[in-house]
Amino acid sequence: MRRLLRKVYESSPHEILQSLRARWPLARPRFIDEQRARALSDELRSRFRAYRTEHLRTVGREAFSQHIRSQLDVVDGRSEGYSDDELQRQRDLSLKFHWGHNHDFGDFRLEGRMGDRHIDVLADFMALFPITIEDFRDKTVFDIGCWTGGTTLLLAALNSRVLAIEEVKKYADMTAYLCNAFGLSDRVSVRAISLYECNTPEFHDRADIVYCPGVIYHLSDPVLALRILFNSLRKGGIVLLESAGINHPEPLCRFEGSRIYGYGTQEQLNRSGWNWFLPSPAALRRMMEEAGFENVRTVWHHGSGRVYGYGRKTGHAGICRAGLSVRTID
Ligand SMILES: C[S@@+](CC[C@H](N)C(=O)[O-])C[C@H]1O[C@@H](n2cnc3c(N)ncnc32)[C@H](O)[C@@H]1O
Repeated sequence: MRRLLRKVYESSPHEILQSLRARWPLARPRFIDEQRARALSDELRSRFRAYRTEHLRTVGREAFSQHIRSQLDVVDGRSEGYSDDELQRQRDLSLKFHWGHNHDFGDFRLEGRMGDRHIDVLADFMALFPITIEDFRDKTVFDIGCWTGGTTLLLAALNSRVLAIEEVKKYADMTAYLCNAFGLSDRVSVRAISLYECNTPEFHDRADIVYCPGVIYHLSDPVLALRILFNSLRKGGIVLLESAGINHPEPLCRFEGSRIYGYGTQEQLNRSGWNWFLPSPAALRRMMEEAGFENVRTVWHHGSGRVYGYGRKTGHAGICRAGLSVRTID
């Protein structure tokens, strides 16, 4: 009791309010219109129905189903470029093929490890920030960390031109296969590369929207990554970020690294984890501003327990080069 009184006595009213909010997050104001998010989810879900086997364009239904089934649960570290002596340290989900997002193909249905995230996260962005379904029409969208392509397909269903990247080759290959099978090759391209390989002129000033959910906390250098994303945007373009994080009012990150696992087992090669820095909304905002973004807004989304961020590239701006891991970056 005495310690509590001393803390109250030594803290400013602002600090007291912040610590109360961190302790009882439900007391914070709600930022999201749940009803609107649900209506958006319904609309996106109906767009996603375009990807049933009856709409296949370049491959037959039987061959399609067989190809997908042949990939599920395959364990393969070699084609990801890992040597045998480093396999032990690699992410379970990079070694073993796990399907990403729920997908009802009509003839068969796959449960994805990430459920309906491809639909719900996009709906949340539209409910939280000034962006609508129509804003994706005829825009170039850079889809970061596409897994098995649920989000990529959905963006294409909004009439976007999509450039999807994924560091795990087996997932990038599956995304490319799906896009080709549904006749999207003229509008979607998929590359099996890391975000860090996009620091080249080829990727500069290309995208109208950078769509980056579920990736920031998997990155060893989030500030550099955000700068690469910033450089990939055209002037006026926007970034949409979503991340695991911490619900704390201060600009803090929790470090986990590759030895902290969540659910799953080593035998099944299905453990969650392999996270680096998990930012609070204030930390994500600072990182985004360092990278050059303006009009930055970040919020804690109570429903999912994750951080959402929005920012705009209003023009090219310099970045602080002191201590930067790649000093030559634009
Ligand atoms: C949690 S999943 C999110 C998938 C999807 N974006 C979503 O929001 O549902 C993270 C994905 O990002 C990929 N990834 C992680 N680091 C990456 C990097 N440096 N470059 C490209 N992809 C990366 C992972 O392999 C994985 O497929």
